[in-house]
Amino acid sequence: MHMASIPKFSTRLNFNQPLRAVENHAQITCSALAHGLLTSSNNHMTKTSHVLRLIDQTEEGLSNTGKFGRFGGVFVPETLVTCLDKLAAEFNFILRDSQFQSELAVALRDYVGRETPLYFAERLTDYYKNSKGEGPDIYLKREDLNHDGAHKMNNAIAQAMLAKRMGRKSVVAATGAGQHGVATAAACAKLSLDCSIFMGNVDEERQSSNVLRMKHLGARVKSVEGTFKDATSEAIRDWVGDLDNSYYLAGTAVGPHPCPSMVREFQSVIGKETRKQAIEKWGGKPDVLVACVGSGSNALGMFHEFVRDEEVRLIGVEAAGTGIDSGKHSATLSKGDIGVYHGAMSYLLQDDEGQIIGPHSIGVGLEYPGVSPELSFLKDIGRAEIYTVTDEEALHAYAVLCRLEGIFPALEAAHALAYLGKLCPALPNGTKVVVNCSGRGDKDADRVFKYQQQMGLATF
Ligand SMILES: Cc1ncc(COP(=O)(O)O)c(C=O)c1O
Repeated sequence: MHMASIPKFSTRLNFNQPLRAVENHAQITCSALAHGLLTSSNNHMTKTSHVLRLIDQTEEGLSNTGKFGRFGGVFVPETLVTCLDKLAAEFNFILRDSQFQSELAVALRDYVGRETPLYFAERLTDYYKNSKGEGPDIYLKREDLNHDGAHKMNNAIAQAMLAKRMGRKSVVAATGAGQHGVATAAACAKLSLDCSIFMGNVDEERQSSNVLRMKHLGARVKSVEGTFKDATSEAIRDWVGDLDNSYYLAGTAVGPHPCPSMVREFQSVIGKETRKQAIEKWGGKPDVLVACVGSGSNALGMFHEFVRDEEVRLIGVEAAGTGIDSGKHSATLSKGDIGVYHGAMSYLLQDDEGQIIGPHSIGVGLEYPGVSPELSFLKDIGRAEIYTVTDEEALHAYAVLCRLEGIFPALEAAHALAYLGKLCPALPNGTKVVVNCSGRGDKDADRVFKYQQQMGLATF
């Protein structure tokens, strides 16, 4: 295990006895499974009960420990601890506060536009049928139809409401693809909160339409040398300078507790709706859920509701960039080692000295060297399956969805769609597959065309 270069604000290790107990259990169980000590004949039930027990243990201890097995926690300086404790207390309060919950339900319905459809992608289903005309039924959870065009709004509006409740006057956030920045800027406009969004100069160029949208919405866009990871560090530094008035609005399920749990909770509406819509449409559960993994919020938003339904496969798709062995990828769960970054422990892209390796993906929102501690945990205990697709495969999937269904997927979501090419041939006829279409791809249209030309893939 390496400890990645710890950012300036990340100095405190917060282990205590109960945490170690959970951590040790997780390690023993995982290593027993990995070494085949739990044989595969009594196997399914044995494995099942272990996995569920680990999930239950984690959920029970979460509000106290912020730990998902050995991942997560609070690795921050003392000055931030009180602030995070206060945030955790407020978060726990609003979870049970019927007034907040009913205001949030109205905002999700009337402002965000929920529920989003569970759309049967008929032509995509046909496209992936085999020569006998058999294959899975493919459905898309249309998070691209949310106000502002991505799942990010589910979380941004809820946290902006929380910030307002806590009496904060200003909000600070970091964005990569710009979708979280736009969602935060919009939520702040609606709730009359001052808004600053930090963004890497490399990303500003790649996602320029979203920079303009943020500015139209009244946000200050603060340019930072680099990409999303650098913008995140700067946004947190800015927040630390004014803890009493300012609220750091985390856009994904990373960072110190309670950020990962909070973002996952506000995104879990995706999975809850999916369960209800699946019952309405085919009278059962989905068999397979597929989501792209940048840092983990859209994947967890869809998976969380089904984490105890072990017959439902949870598939996370990471960016293999120019190739999983090329060194230019964002496949943190597939290729990373465990370390501490931005206040929590998770898998990380790091070198032998623990220095962060810059991630790469054609999907700007997938470029982050860390990943959600909860997904790290679900991968470790064998509950979530993690695969990768390359830039080129994602570009192809973008074109396929445009041409067959008339839907632009965000390049991030195109990674989840691209995995269908590998998944579908292995599935029985009629298997119900739900892909999280996490955002819309208007922001990527010009870059896709440029890449298609460069790679000789242009289709028009
Ligand atoms: C449309 C879309 N999907 C997915 C992601 C990846 O983030 P996460 O893994 O937190 O869902 C982003 C990030 O910006 C995004 O904009």
